[in-house]
Amino acid sequence: MHDAIVASFGPDYGDADPLIRPSSFADFQANVALPLGKRLRRPPREVAAELAARLDVADICADPEVSGPGFINLTLRDDWIAAQASRMLGDPRLGLELTGHPQTVVVEYSSPNVAKEMHVGHLRTTIVGDAIASVLEFAGHRVIRDNHVGDWGTPFGMLIEHLLDVGEESADAELLTTDPNAFYQAARYKFDNDPAFTERARSRLVRLQAGDQDTLAIWQRLVDISRGYLHQVYTRLRVSLTDDDIRGESFYNDLLADTVAILVERGIATESEGALCAFPSGFTGREGKPLPLIIRKSDGGYNYATTDLAAIRYRVDKLSCDRAVYVVGSEQALHFQMVFAVAREAGWIPDGARFEHAQIGMVLGEDGNRLKTREGETPKLAGLLTEGIDRARGILDEVDAASRFGPAELDAVAEAVGIGAVKYADLSTARESAYLFDWDRMISFRGNTGPYLQYATARIRSIFRRADAGAAGVAGAQEDELAGAAEAAARAVGVTLTAAPERALALRLLSFGAMVTQLGETAEPHRMCAYLFEVASLFTTFYEECPVLKAESESLRVSRLALCALTLDVLARGLGLLGVPVPERM
Ligand code: ARG
Repeated sequence: MHDAIVASFGPDYGDADPLIRPSSFADFQANVALPLGKRLRRPPREVAAELAARLDVADICADPEVSGPGFINLTLRDDWIAAQASRMLGDPRLGLELTGHPQTVVVEYSSPNVAKEMHVGHLRTTIVGDAIASVLEFAGHRVIRDNHVGDWGTPFGMLIEHLLDVGEESADAELLTTDPNAFYQAARYKFDNDPAFTERARSRLVRLQAGDQDTLAIWQRLVDISRGYLHQVYTRLRVSLTDDDIRGESFYNDLLADTVAILVERGIATESEGALCAFPSGFTGREGKPLPLIIRKSDGGYNYATTDLAAIRYRVDKLSCDRAVYVVGSEQALHFQMVFAVAREAGWIPDGARFEHAQIGMVLGEDGNRLKTREGETPKLAGLLTEGIDRARGILDEVDAASRFGPAELDAVAEAVGIGAVKYADLSTARESAYLFDWDRMISFRGNTGPYLQYATARIRSIFRRADAGAAGVAGAQEDELAGAAEAAARAVGVTLTAAPERALALRLLSFGAMVTQLGETAEPHRMCAYLFEVASLFTTFYEECPVLKAESESLRVSRLALCALTLDVLARGLGLLGVPVPERM
C-alpha cells in the first residue's frame, strides 16, 4: 500500500497510514483514500481508484474494489489463506514471529501475605499474572516473575509470639500449612484481648526490626513454613511460580533507609505531622490539598510505600527491566499511581521504561458483595478448588465420562476440568472488572467457559482416533498400530479451502500470532479467551457443515483433518499460555 501511495502521489505522501481495518464487506478495507483525498484536494473515490489500480497484491488478494466514499476493499485469496494455514501447521510457534525488540519484563503477581490464607482476590491476580508472564515469554521477551510476598511489617511481632506460645511442633502451628488464616486470627485475638501478649508482640517487633538474631531465626521459620503452603497452592493450581520467584517485602529491607535519604536529599520528601511524606505533583485530596505518600511513619518505621519505592530501584538497577507489570487489585490503584509518580520525580524510572499497574477487579459473591461463605467468612482456597472439582465431576456425567474412564482417569479429568473452569472464569472477564463468582456459569459446557474449550480440543482428538480406527478396520490392523497416523498424514499434506466455513475458520486461525502480540502489549488475557471462544465456535460451524471423516473425497478428508489439527494446535497452545489444563479425553 505504501508503495502504491508513493507511486501514485509522490514521496511526500509516503507517511500516510493505510488505515487497514477488518471489514464486513470484504476481509479488510483500507481507508487511506479519505484523508489522502483531503490532502490532495481530490475526490477520495478517484484517489481510491488510482491506488487500487496500482496496488501490487495479486499474490495475496483478489482484485481490490472501491466502494462507498472511497474505501478499498481487500479480499484475501483462498489459496493464500490455505498456504499460510499449511505453513502454520508445521510451525511450533504457530506463525508468531519473535519480537524484534525483546525486553526484560518484571511481572509481579500473586503477592499474598505470609500467615494469611490466600483469598480469591489473590487467586485471581495469581492466575491472570501467570497468563501474562507466559504470553510475554512466548512472544520472545525475557520475563522475570516476581512474587512480592508480604513477609514483613507490624503483624510479625504478634505472629512470632504466637508461634513461640503454641510451639512449632503443635497442631496450632500446623495451621500455617493448612489454614493460615486461622493461625493469623488466633494471634490477632490474643493481640486484641490479652494486654501482656500485646506488650510482648510490640517488643518482639522492635527486636525484629533491630535485626536481633534469635528473632530473625524464628521469623525465617515462619516464612519458610508459609512458602511450603504457597508451593502447594501453586502446584495444585498449575501456576508456574516457584520458590525462587519469591522476593518478599523483607528482601528490600536494606535499601529502605537509603531510599528515604535520597528522597529527602532531593527535596522530594518533607516532614509533615511527624511523618516523612512525599507529595507527588498532580495528586490532591479534599479541598485541593496535596496528597501525601507516607514513606516513614512518625514512629520511625518504614512502610508499604517505602518498600515499593525500593523495589522499583532494584528492578531498574539490578534487574535492568524495561517494563514492569504489577498485577494487583484495583483498590490499590492510587497507591501505585503515587509510588510511580514519586519514583519518576526521583529519576528512578528512566524515560523509556514502562511501569504499569495491571488492575484486577474484585471477585464478588452472588449478592454482589465481596465473596463470603454462608457463615460470612472468606472462603478457603482449598475448599473452593475441591468444590470446583466435585462440580466438574457432575458435568462430566453430561458427556457420560464415567462409562468411558477408569476411576483414576475420571479423577484426573475432573481435576483438570474443575481447576480449568475456575481459572478460565478469572481470565475471561476483563481483568479490571469485578466479576460475579457463579459456579453454574463457570462449570458448564455452554458459553465462553473453560470446559467448553477443553471439550472442543478433546472432540478434535477423538476425530483423529476415529480416523485411525477406521483406517485400522480397512487395513485389518490393530488400532494402536495406527495411532496418530491420520493426524500426521493430514499435517504433512496441509490445508486446501473449498467451503465458506473452512475459510472463516482458517482465516481466524491465522490471527493467533497477532493475538499473542496484542496480549503482551495490553496484558489483557480476556482477549485471548474471546479469541479462542470464537475459534471454537467457528470450528463447530465448520464441523456441522463440512463432513470430515465422511468427506466426499479422500483429498477433502485429509485437508479437513489438517484444519482440525491446526484448530487443535491453536486451542491447546492458547489454553496452555493461559494456564488452563487441556485433558486429552473428556
Ligand atoms: N501483599 C499485598 C496484598 O496482599 C499485595 C502486594 C502488591 N504488590 C506491591 N508491590 N505492593 O495486598
